[in-house]
Amino acid sequence: MSVIGINGSPRSSGATAALVYEVLAGAAECGVGTRIFHLGEMAFSGCTACMGCRETARCAIDDDMRPMYEAIERNAGRRALVIGTPIYFDHVSAQLKAWLDRLYAYTYTKFGERMFPKGYDAAIVLTFDWDKADAYRCVEEWLADRLRAYHAIRILGSVTLCNATASPLSDRPDIAHQAREMGRRLALGS
Ligand SMILES: Cc1cc2nc3c(=O)[nH]c(=O)nc-3n(C[C@H](O)[C@H](O)[C@H](O)COP(=O)(O)O)c2cc1C
Repeated sequence: MSVIGINGSPRSSGATAALVYEVLAGAAECGVGTRIFHLGEMAFSGCTACMGCRETARCAIDDDMRPMYEAIERNAGRRALVIGTPIYFDHVSAQLKAWLDRLYAYTYTKFGERMFPKGYDAAIVLTFDWDKADAYRCVEEWLADRLRAYHAIRILGSVTLCNATASPLSDRPDIAHQAREMGRRLALGS
């Protein structure tokens, strides 16, 4: 495994999944391994603020985030994430926000503020129905800033699919091309 996709939609076969898969396909073309987690299929909660992680840098909650943490920590290949979310009421999905909150386990521990595994690059994938490609640039920037500031993740870029329901990825070769290219960049780290 090498490039890990995170589909923040409750739908495992929706627009966000399709775009994340396209980025992963670009990475796979460069010979790196890929894996995807569909947050909508995982039983996990948001952070419960038990603060157990402050002592251990490990989340104390035993749920479907466990395999996610392990995949991120044990990733021995090119370390990269494709983080996808649909826009829900002008922000990331609840699932993606819960996932982000659970990364709290890597911050503010007695070992330091940045315990997220080192060397990760990421791409951000957004899908939404508003027919205005830059409508949610502020959400993309918010997410990128969080990942950079709290987890020292380098953001290589983003891919956006607007008007997603009316005009899906299968009708948008330009966006599919951008996604493949993004995947190749993640695989190569450039
Ligand atoms: C609860 C909900 C809220 C939504 N809010 C917005 C929104 O604020 N702006 C927008 O452009 N699209 C909005 N949408 C449309 C989705 O973002 C869009 O259809 C997205 O591509 C769905 O991704 P998926 O197929 O991966 O689930 C919303 C959809 C739902 C179900």
